[in-house]
Amino acid sequence: MKGVLLAGGTGSRLHPLTRITNKHLLPIYDRPMINWSIEAAVRAGVTDIMLVSGGHHAGEFLRLLGNGHEFGIDRLSYGYQEKPGGIAEALGLAERFAGGEPVLVMLADNVMEHSIKPMVDAFRDHPVGGRILLTPVEEDEHLRHLGVPTFDDGGKVVGIVEKPEHPQSKFGVTGIYCYDNSVFDVIKTLVPSGRGELEITDVNNHYIGLGLMAYDVLDGFWGDAGESIDAYYTVNDYVRNHGANKD
Ligand code: DAU
Repeated sequence: MKGVLLAGGTGSRLHPLTRITNKHLLPIYDRPMINWSIEAAVRAGVTDIMLVSGGHHAGEFLRLLGNGHEFGIDRLSYGYQEKPGGIAEALGLAERFAGGEPVLVMLADNVMEHSIKPMVDAFRDHPVGGRILLTPVEEDEHLRHLGVPTFDDGGKVVGIVEKPEHPQSKFGVTGIYCYDNSVFDVIKTLVPSGRGELEITDVNNHYIGLGLMAYDVLDGFWGDAGESIDAYYTVNDYVRNHGANKD
């Protein structure tokens, strides 16, 4: 399985901090944000990684990470997204890199208390369709910033709504996804959403429609450090006090 870490986008919710750097280079406790995603992937046994970034600061990732060996990466490739056309568009840039293999996809502003290895191993055992990682979220105000799944009576996910006005469950979709290689064909069928982006939620709904979507529920803390300046500090405080990516 190959790893695709997405670190493009505008980071507009963290302006003006992100006018002078890429969001994923801002510090989370004692290291740049991107390093926590790399650690999570490597601890899940994914060491052949492509990092997709964009904007004016893409070169800084090379300066920070080099060939990645220092961080446990075997082979580090770089991709460049010309415009922030959405998460699914950014993932599409990794098609040749993936070379027919399944992929672990990570939004590099997501930070977890616990290792994602159990989810990745589950997908390795059954590498068909997609697998998403959900997290319990209590407040509707928070859910309105996320992808939110709807379940049937048997607990199966029957659909995901991106940033719903009226959330239909108390779970959010985290930015950690596994897909088989058909994902690159699915991306080619997508049309831009109202905000002009190719949405990862449309990819997920495609697999849900085929009955090929599994999920896990994350145990412990999860934060999207790019969601707001307050979320950024919540993640910083959490990681400083408790660490991240623990077994
Ligand atoms: O964090 C979890 C949420 O992430 C999910 O619940 C949502 O379903 C999913 O759409 C996503 O929502 P966000 O609003 O947080 O996505 P955002 O635009 O902040 O992008 C997340 C990451 O994806 C960001 O860290 C960089 C990368 N990205 C984003 C865009 C729009 C790219 O690499 N290229 C892009 O064009």
